[in-house]
Amino acid sequence: MRVLGIETSCDETAAAVVESDGRVLSDIVHTQIQLHSRYGGIVPELASRDHLRSISPVVERALEEAGLERTQIDGIAVTCQPGLTGALLVGVQFAQGLAWALDKPVVAVDHLMGHLLAAYLEYPKSPGPLSPQLPFVGLLASGGHTAIYRVEGFEPHQIFELGATRDDAAGEAFDKVAKLLGLGYPGGPIIDKLAFEGNPEAVSLSRPMKGKASFEFSFSGLKSEVARHVQLHGPPGDEPRLRDLCAAFQNAVVTSLISKSVRAAVEEGVNTLVLCGGVAANRGLREGAELAAKKHGLTLLIPPLRACTDNAAMIAFAGAQKLLTGQNNSGALRVSPRTVLERLTRKGSGARG
Ligand code: KG4
Ligand code: ZN
Repeated sequence: MRVLGIETSCDETAAAVVESDGRVLSDIVHTQIQLHSRYGGIVPELASRDHLRSISPVVERALEEAGLERTQIDGIAVTCQPGLTGALLVGVQFAQGLAWALDKPVVAVDHLMGHLLAAYLEYPKSPGPLSPQLPFVGLLASGGHTAIYRVEGFEPHQIFELGATRDDAAGEAFDKVAKLLGLGYPGGPIIDKLAFEGNPEAVSLSRPMKGKASFEFSFSGLKSEVARHVQLHGPPGDEPRLRDLCAAFQNAVVTSLISKSVRAAVEEGVNTLVLCGGVAANRGLREGAELAAKKHGLTLLIPPLRACTDNAAMIAFAGAQKLLTGQNNSGALRVSPRTVLERLTRKGSGARG
């Protein structure tokens, strides 16, 4: 089954064609980073307008690169939640219109489901899919969400949230700290690069939620600590001091992410840990997780970078799993800023204190 995926939840207009077994036939991402970078964050109205301009050519390119006519796809999957309402509406309206015109089924996909299942994608010319065995523990760290899940299957009711951030998402903390240091947007890749040559021990920052039994995160206090450091000492005057501050901040974030997700896998009794979401591109996180996984005898799986950041291939794959079970949300697509996983799993998961 070949599925066209459409993703417009935030600042990427993306379309992809994916086989239901995970083979990626095309994967087109049009990013709006340049549009928003001068504001240091995403401006929702500008995002919606740019999605409107880009959606049609992006979908056409995805079909063209897959070598398919519109009529040759078997169904459409579109991100319905969570995200910016106006941005989501552009993708959903487009998907609904196309499905109606082609008389094909269309399914709603939760963006976080897409991220969690990205390890099942198989890109041409890159090593085969990681295909984590179920159940696995997934750390999803992106610009909008940071949470740990136990994944037992491809349906929302088979995914259990073990803990989430109480305030900022990890990527959001990277972006806000970069903004306060005047480094540009998005901050994650910039801080990652600077941190690589910095000394994390040179600046003392606290480890958020250290020693707490829960799998919850908190990053806003850490961000305030960096702001206080800058207030007290002034902005780092030279490159070495800037690198050290970035290294200390990054180290505090990734130590928290790694220690909680590794402990979650161990306590859940599963031996596969998957990292996903844009922050999984972070070099410090990847290297640190590799060491920690080895130490605890866990198999660590991290999808390729293009599958970690926002894309429509992950949406097409997650949607294909729904279409295979005969689901069709035609005429009943609703957008929501919240995730279905948060709502469904908090009740069932018995969150720890
Ligand atoms: O998953 P994603 O592309 O979009 C959302 O769903 O939010 O994640 C974007 C986030 C941004 O906050 C960005 O700063 C962060 O991922 N990010 C990184 C890195 N690359 C992207 N954070 C840390 N290190 C990176 N190398
Ligand atoms: Zn995302």
